[in-house]
Amino acid sequence: MNDEHGFITRTIHEGEAGNSSATPIYQSTTVDGAYLRGSNPTFTAFEEKMCALEGGGRSIATACGMASVTQAVMTLIRAGSRIVCHQTGYVWTRHFMSEELPRLGFDTELIDMRDPKQLDAALEKPTDVVYFEPLSNPTLDIIDAPGVIQKAHQAGAKVVIDNTFLSPYLFRPMDHGADVVLHSATKYLCGHGDALAGIITTRDPDLGEQVLRSRNTYGGILSPMNAFLLLRGIKTLSIRMDRHNLNARAVADFLESHPRVKRTYYPGLPSTPGHEIARSQWNGYGGMVSFEIAEETVVGFLDRVRLCKPWVSLGDVGSLVTGDPEGQRVRMSVGLEDTDDIIKDLEQALG
Ligand SMILES: Cc1ncc(COP(=O)(O)O)c(C=O)c1O
Repeated sequence: MNDEHGFITRTIHEGEAGNSSATPIYQSTTVDGAYLRGSNPTFTAFEEKMCALEGGGRSIATACGMASVTQAVMTLIRAGSRIVCHQTGYVWTRHFMSEELPRLGFDTELIDMRDPKQLDAALEKPTDVVYFEPLSNPTLDIIDAPGVIQKAHQAGAKVVIDNTFLSPYLFRPMDHGADVVLHSATKYLCGHGDALAGIITTRDPDLGEQVLRSRNTYGGILSPMNAFLLLRGIKTLSIRMDRHNLNARAVADFLESHPRVKRTYYPGLPSTPGHEIARSQWNGYGGMVSFEIAEETVVGFLDRVRLCKPWVSLGDVGSLVTGDPEGQRVRMSVGLEDTDDIIKDLEQALG
């Protein structure tokens, strides 16, 4: 890592081949006799860039975000392990925690980590891994990451953080002592909705080496084409995140004053629980907004949006909305379009 350069300079230059404007795609199963399940020059470049951005010891790229979630946790646990996890999080992570791991005999407990009493009580039992998303999917719960890390370490647990919703531009958990940081790189890191990818970064390079062995064993490697798209996407991470921040703020203000919206959740709004944590710890509030529609279910709203697409991903250049069709809460990934165009679409869809 080049310590002289700032974060944005690193997004552009770190990891890249020094003699070309873009790192080439090594579309090959071997290079110089080495088999490319273990490493590939294109995804190694992506790993080196991410390691420099996270301030970590080692980064390991995976086929998608879920491959990062499962490989990171599986590397840290052994027979009899106990895992404490925040109660809301990406649906398939919750499935892994509440069904897959217990099926294999692991003790997992899902708690509300925003409540220090619940965390203290959970950590009374010997715990190996504490796992959470600092801004959680889909409910936008805001967690005091430094506080949780400190307590987890006192209890002898390793901390794994899924930082997908914030990106290292807005928050760097390694600076606060996290042991492992991972992302669904499919989202803000890629930014363009054209590649699935995951990335795990460990503070300890030896732990990174173990994760690498897990990747070799489970086989969930990243394709060189997707690594290329990630390298390309990350170069504009900072300007994209700045604009996501700007547009999401405007959308949140609009929604908060709209009569057909019961409640708006955005880390930048003082009315959102945890706002003070976000304000004091992050470098911006991000592009994710959530809101409850009054008097009808989400299905009608999803039917009426035109510019904003009713698709499940997030972190793309375009605005995306999703939610349980029978529920009233919408999750919105605010895109990079003209602010007025996004707001006009929401206005006509809210009716
Ligand atoms: C917070 C979070 N973690 C992990 C994942 C899984 O990532 P992927 O879809 O790249 O496997 C997602 C997907 O939406 C996510 O939102």
